[in-house]
Amino acid sequence: MAFDIEMIKEVYARYPERIAAARKAVGKPLTLTEKILYSHLSDGPATAAYERGKSYVDFQPDRVAMQDATAQMALLQFMQAGKDQVAVPSTVHCDHLIQAEVGAAKDLQKANDKNKEVYDFLASVSNKYGIGFWKPGAGIIHQVVLENYAFPGGMMIGTDSHTPNAGGLGMVAIGVGGADACDVMAGLPWELKFPKLIGVKLTGKMSGWTSAKDVILKVAGILTVKGGTGAIVEYFGEGARSLSATGKGTICNMGAEIGATTSIFGYDEKSAAYLSGTGRSDIAELANGIAEHLTGDDEVYANPEQYFDQVIEINLSELEPHVNGPFTPDLAWPLSKFAAAVKENNWPAKLEVGLIGSCTNSSYEDISRAASLAQQAVDKKLVAKSEFTITPGSEQVRYTVERDGFLGTFGKMGGVVLANACGPCIGQWARHGAEKQEKNSIITSFNRNFAKRADGNPNTHAFVASPEVVTALAIAGDLTFNPMTDSLINEEGKEVRLDEPRGLEMPTKGFAVEDAGYQAPAEDGSQVDVIVDPKSDRLQLLESFPAWEGTDLKGLKLLIKAKGKCTTDHISMAGPWLRFRGHLDNISNNMLIGAVNAYNDETNKVKNQITGEYGEVPATQRHYKEEGIGTVVVGDENYGEGSSREHAAMEPRFLGVRAILVKSFARIHETNLKKQGMLALTFDDPADYDKVQEDDTIDILGLTEFAPNKPLTVVLTHADGTKDEFLVNHTYNEGQIEWFKAGSALNLIKAGIL
Ligand code: F3S
Repeated sequence: MAFDIEMIKEVYARYPERIAAARKAVGKPLTLTEKILYSHLSDGPATAAYERGKSYVDFQPDRVAMQDATAQMALLQFMQAGKDQVAVPSTVHCDHLIQAEVGAAKDLQKANDKNKEVYDFLASVSNKYGIGFWKPGAGIIHQVVLENYAFPGGMMIGTDSHTPNAGGLGMVAIGVGGADACDVMAGLPWELKFPKLIGVKLTGKMSGWTSAKDVILKVAGILTVKGGTGAIVEYFGEGARSLSATGKGTICNMGAEIGATTSIFGYDEKSAAYLSGTGRSDIAELANGIAEHLTGDDEVYANPEQYFDQVIEINLSELEPHVNGPFTPDLAWPLSKFAAAVKENNWPAKLEVGLIGSCTNSSYEDISRAASLAQQAVDKKLVAKSEFTITPGSEQVRYTVERDGFLGTFGKMGGVVLANACGPCIGQWARHGAEKQEKNSIITSFNRNFAKRADGNPNTHAFVASPEVVTALAIAGDLTFNPMTDSLINEEGKEVRLDEPRGLEMPTKGFAVEDAGYQAPAEDGSQVDVIVDPKSDRLQLLESFPAWEGTDLKGLKLLIKAKGKCTTDHISMAGPWLRFRGHLDNISNNMLIGAVNAYNDETNKVKNQITGEYGEVPATQRHYKEEGIGTVVVGDENYGEGSSREHAAMEPRFLGVRAILVKSFARIHETNLKKQGMLALTFDDPADYDKVQEDDTIDILGLTEFAPNKPLTVVLTHADGTKDEFLVNHTYNEGQIEWFKAGSALNLIKAGIL
């Protein structure tokens, strides 16, 4: 990892000059978030202040992390860029494809067999292009990143929504789509709307049953699932400094549940201790050297209302443990009110399963505190009434907590250790009986609890709490049990109480591991072959999209006029289609199958203008493609909202759609379309949407003079021969017009022009 330390030295060397420039540009004291963002501008030191929530800014992240489900398309695209090596340190983590069923060893073996072709591809492509590869079983992306790669003051992007976990070590870490990861690995800047800033001041100190998880459960209750949208949440205050680095990671991780761009804590003694404890005292030393730049300015924290867009204050000394749910992570219940809520709402009080661990909560501290309760259960002759599972976040944590006896303790209480992987957290859980769809309750220390997420059963009421509360409730087998006030009856019929959990932030004997599961890439990957079976139905090498033919587009057919909401899920559905994420041709069979056809209010049923018959959208589009006929997709407001999933832009491009014409776009999807060489257009007058008819033939004129801020013209020829003509707008800048002309942004990179 020498590459890393050199990179960090370079980042830190830039800090003094960059922060001085930012101070001058902004003209007032700086938050930590601003310091990091302004130090990572791709154009060098700041020359002007950016407007929060408005300005689009190009950044230069320091590293990229990818999980195995999203890495496939990101890396297939990267292969198109024609580079020998990735431009920034990057890693791949095999964590999402392992299904939890009986326990770690067997589940891992099964996943290795079932996903062999995907793992072989990811291992070989990583080896070739200088990407660190974490094998199946090595751990969950965010825990592995926190243990190995996160560093104070850094900036990273990751192809997973809980990438913000690294904010626990003072990094601006943001979840993105594969196309963004591909760009940054290819050396391009990364664009982000300059975020708004929410400050959370933590006072006091936690004790007893309260843990870091309760901070974010409380914040989620205050801000709700949308409250953090477009914002970075910055935590500060004496309470913040009292939390362990991994506790901070938990809080940042779950910031995704309030929609925040990311969350962050400043560098402090706990960060230094964690860096040293995980074998990185060299980084701690470097950070100490620029410590004043790795937290917000004193004046900012003294008068936060003047510097943040919103401020929340939480007193940790008064914070109660929380349980959030069911079905949404922002339904927050202080433990003292939870039992009444269970009864009032008629939620199943019997607790079927308690699940601890995941990327959110599997630190040494979490596991040791939960194990202290498991030990009490054994000592006090309590038999756990619920099933109980433990998902370690990394092999390093697993090995260490096994060495220190905690896994053995869980075993005595009937706990099952699952593979170091996402498992039940992402629905990779072969939960026996879930297919019966019975109403039941589970509680996890994970982050998300939407209906069906863990086991596919819409009637599973999933609650979220700290590992300590999950363990206590699993021992009781009852959601209405409050371990702070209630007692339990043990095997001998005696009434016993659980004492407060106790644990250690880090192991006294240090972390240990035999095989962390890391595979370093080849020094020179030029001779490495990337392994893709041509017969695979899950992986397919990409071919470059063709360049623009240099003329206006005439004689296009309307494929679908979508009505109402059309999110990336409507355009490229998830669920069973996840399997084909690395196979563009196969996944294209889900193109727009969720979009509502404005002419018949049905989904996946459009008129094929060649045959006059109605058929599925992908099949109809494939017919047009065979006939060499381009098409247009027409849409409503905010088309493509939802996620940054690049498949939603690649599929129409691949199947021969030539333009997406809508009332308005969700910005990320619009950019993704541009990157793939697609025309992304908006009606100048939204009322023109109504002029589009089912049998229309469409011409797009003005492309030979395609220029920024210059509208194009659309001519509709209706079935009866009449015509409508109107202007359509676009937001292409000079560079993006070149993407269009070349066929895609990647084509330009490949040609060495970008
Ligand atoms: Fe995996 Fe769940 Fe985290 S899916 S990355 S363990 S949020």
